[in-house]
Amino acid sequence: MTECINHVLVPGTFDPITYGHIDVVRRARRICPRVTVAVARSLGKNGVGTTFTLEERVDFARRALEGLDGVDVMPFDGLLVNLARQVGAGGVVKGLRAMTDFEYELQQADLNYRLDPSIESIFIMSSPEYSYLSSSAVREMASFGGDVTEFVPPCVADALHQRFNR
Ligand code: PNS
Repeated sequence: MTECINHVLVPGTFDPITYGHIDVVRRARRICPRVTVAVARSLGKNGVGTTFTLEERVDFARRALEGLDGVDVMPFDGLLVNLARQVGAGGVVKGLRAMTDFEYELQQADLNYRLDPSIESIFIMSSPEYSYLSSSAVREMASFGGDVTEFVPPCVADALHQRFNR
């Protein structure tokens, strides 16, 4: 009998973490007793670097997810499947918003499968209220002085305000 998965990773760049990410982490926790939010050092989607440092992104995620039983946050560098093996996670959970996410995530899942077929890729459809929400949209809104309090936890909204409204 194949063993059930009792620990999953929710990986991402989290630049910064949004309520959409938090929704996916909560829902991953509903289906698995242990969830590790894995914050990638990452160069950012366009290769020009992230807005927040790895340490800041980890700190925001820890504060945003504080008190969620069975959920922890850790930074990582390198291959996701290596981290999964290192911490004993049997699956990777990602949120899917639109077809554009699907194409990208399918490619990532395929690569991860080739690297280690024992790690399951699991997808959670984003809740409709977050289907439009992305870290890049939040950063853009904040950079033009828009109010982002509806989309990110208070610690992130404060940090974005400080970063863009100096
Ligand atoms: O939030 P993002 O940017 O969609 O997260 C992407 C992330 C960090 C999960 C992905 O780029 C990743 O897994 N990076 C680690 C390197 C890796 O294992 N890549 C996939 C196989 S080559």
